[in-house]
Amino acid sequence: MLGIFDSGVGGLTVVKELQKRIPNLDFVYFGDTARSPYGTKSQDTIFRYAEESVQFLITQGATVIAIACNTVSAIALDYLRKKFKLSFLDVINPIVNTALKSSQHKKIGVIGTSTTIRSKIYNTILTQRDSHATIFEISAPLLVPLVEEGFINRSETRRIIKYYLRPLKLAHIDTLILACTHYPFLTKAIHSIMGKQVKILNPSESLVVENLAFLKTLDQNNDQKFYVSDDPDKFRKTMFQWLRKSAQVQNISAIIKN
Ligand code: DGL
Repeated sequence: MLGIFDSGVGGLTVVKELQKRIPNLDFVYFGDTARSPYGTKSQDTIFRYAEESVQFLITQGATVIAIACNTVSAIALDYLRKKFKLSFLDVINPIVNTALKSSQHKKIGVIGTSTTIRSKIYNTILTQRDSHATIFEISAPLLVPLVEEGFINRSETRRIIKYYLRPLKLAHIDTLILACTHYPFLTKAIHSIMGKQVKILNPSESLVVENLAFLKTLDQNNDQKFYVSDDPDKFRKTMFQWLRKSAQVQNISAIIKN
């Protein structure tokens, strides 16, 4: 069974892509809502949180883990692979393939949380794979709380996006990776600011598309469970707003403590 792990609600962007392509796929989702955001936390803290979360998913029957969170994929993927004898799918390696295929001039922008951008993981992997690629990385931390507050089509949000994207516009990138679970909800505004010529890429989509053949081999009995470490009501409401999906959400604050 697939385990989906995120720091909170953001991993619902992976669920959204699964809904489109393999709607009955069985999975168990854990969102660490008590301890999010992860994007401002240190490496050691993220290692500890990620290890506990994966351990929980294993107890729920997960045999392969999709790390929906860009911050965890950036910081803790190797750590988790060493700790657990399981397959891990991440959001970075698939989008790197997509970006290199789609970028004509190999001028690629990346926006993500402070921790993801500080790790320089995108620069490292993209330039290892193509030494002609030039990568421009910018952290855009304010966008996470704005999306969580539902400030999607607001002029305030647009102004903040414009501020963050300015250096990428000046750099004339032709491809932009939205390297944070929450940013795909702002695609429309980002597109209109960057212009139609810039390709906007969603790592949650790439995770599902690049691993589609494998994911289709997993059970599809519509057995989908959601767990959070705090405030299941808020998670349920967000899930309905973002995906129009209703489901039970269980609180495991007794197991994963803040
Ligand atoms: N899920 C995180 C990511 O994709 C964003 C939210 C957080 O900072 O925890 O990087």
